[in-house]
Amino acid sequence: MSVCGCFVTSWRCLVVLSLRLLFLVPAGVPVQSGDTSPFNRVMDNLTVRQGDIVLLKCAIDNQMMRTAWLNRSTILFAGRDKWTLDERVSLQTYNNREYTIKINNVQVQDEGLYTCAVQTNLNPRTTNVHLIVQVPPTIMNISSDVSVNEGANVSIVCLATGKPEPVVTWRHLSPIAQGFLSEEEYLEIPAITKQSAGVYECSASNEVSTDIKKVQVIVNFPPYISDAKNLGVAVGQKGILRCEAIAVPTAAFEWYIEERRIFNGLNGIQIQNKGSLSMLTFFNVSEEDYGNYTCMASNKLGNVTTSLILYGECTNHNYPLLDMQIVIRDLGAAQDGKSSGTGIQASAYLLMILCVQLLLKF
Ligand SMILES: *[C@@H]1O[C@H](CO)[C@@H](O)[C@H](O)[C@H]1NC(C)=O
Ligand SMILES: *[C@@H]1O[C@H](CO)[C@@H](O)[C@H](O)[C@H]1NC(C)=O
Ligand SMILES: *[C@@H]1O[C@H](CO)[C@@H](O)[C@H](O)[C@H]1NC(C)=O
Ligand SMILES: *[C@@H]1O[C@H](CO)[C@@H](O)[C@H](O)[C@H]1NC(C)=O
Ligand SMILES: *[C@@H]1O[C@H](CO)[C@@H](O)[C@H](O)[C@H]1NC(C)=O
Ligand SMILES: *[C@@H]1O[C@H](CO)[C@@H](O)[C@H](O)[C@H]1NC(C)=O
Ligand SMILES: *[C@@H]1O[C@H](CO)[C@@H](O)[C@H](O)[C@H]1NC(C)=O
Repeated sequence: MSVCGCFVTSWRCLVVLSLRLLFLVPAGVPVQSGDTSPFNRVMDNLTVRQGDIVLLKCAIDNQMMRTAWLNRSTILFAGRDKWTLDERVSLQTYNNREYTIKINNVQVQDEGLYTCAVQTNLNPRTTNVHLIVQVPPTIMNISSDVSVNEGANVSIVCLATGKPEPVVTWRHLSPIAQGFLSEEEYLEIPAITKQSAGVYECSASNEVSTDIKKVQVIVNFPPYISDAKNLGVAVGQKGILRCEAIAVPTAAFEWYIEERRIFNGLNGIQIQNKGSLSMLTFFNVSEEDYGNYTCMASNKLGNVTTSLILYGECTNHNYPLLDMQIVIRDLGAAQDGKSSGTGIQASAYLLMILCVQLLLKF
């Protein structure tokens, strides 16, 4: 059974079929459709956003006898009669110039071809509108925050939907990082370093808007000493030995004098930890306090120690101690050819002994 002479169920065939039924045009009478009529307009694209109100407008004139709006092959309105059950569709305007229907809260499923069919005395004509519905991007799935050890291979993902298909990019929110790291959903960080720790931002963009979400990447690493200095303090003065260790998670500190562990509050010594810094405070330095201290910083990934010398600072300026200090330092450095740090530490320790001796003499 072929009403319009085509077996293929194309929209055009269906539209023509619908119109024939609607206007009860005898099957034998040719129905002009599409491009052959001078009245017909080239197909227009109407781009809207999801949720918008859409007005589908069609110009008509007094010649018009019957008219209808179709969604693909389905009749939405025939004249003033509503054929569709869709509550979002209503008649906006129907007069002798204009025939307009309204679709509220337009959705992606509404995308497609809409046809205004007009039956005049002479011939039917159609106006087509291709409705394109855009959807803002939404990041549907993004990796949760991760905590890994330095050296691990990290892979994070950000999946977004939207229409047109959003472009997904990754960025490292860090003062030193530049530009995009990845222009796709997956971000691979092989053998991650501590510098790569921080917040990663995924952004999904299309013509409509941009959606942004963040992932925190924590990189754990064992402590390393970033600052620890020897300290010269005269007897009776207050002195603070500072030991700073960078680590993730934050390091725990322990202090030792020679092999003995120092506990907070004993012998007028206080241990205070503030994040990466540990401070050993001597409220009233005595000669017994002078010596070689060890600061140990540890976390679940390891530990590190460093030595700090608390030495006596000579306040008596009659002695050429500065010169002596330089000589000793040079000796210390030359002695073993090791790092100058050890040399300085050794010389400082010697200086301390010298100071003690000098103080004992007078
Ligand atoms: C309508 O959009 C399609 C792609 O969706 C495009 O190929 C076509 O050229 C557009 N037509 C007009 C008239 O803009
Ligand atoms: C248009 O047709 C499509 C497919 O049948 C349907 O999903 C959509 O809801 C219709 N939209 C309107 C506004 O009638
Ligand atoms: C989205 O994430 C969940 C877990 O958060 C996962 O189970 C699911 O497979 C993910 N979906 C896709 C498409 O990757
Ligand atoms: C990281 O990936 C590389 C290459 O794929 C592999 O050789 C290495 O073993 C991986 N490292 C870890 C910690 O999984
Ligand atoms: C420091 O200790 C000495 C001897 O132990 C004592 O004489 C002196 O008063 C103390 N100084 C202070 C400020 O506590
Ligand atoms: C410090 O690390 C060493 C290995 O590097 C380990 O043998 C030792 O037990 C650690 N000490 C503490 C107190 O965690
Ligand atoms: C302090 O002690 C450490 C070991 O506990 C040692 O390696 C270092 O040489 C000592 N420093 C001085 C100046 O004696």
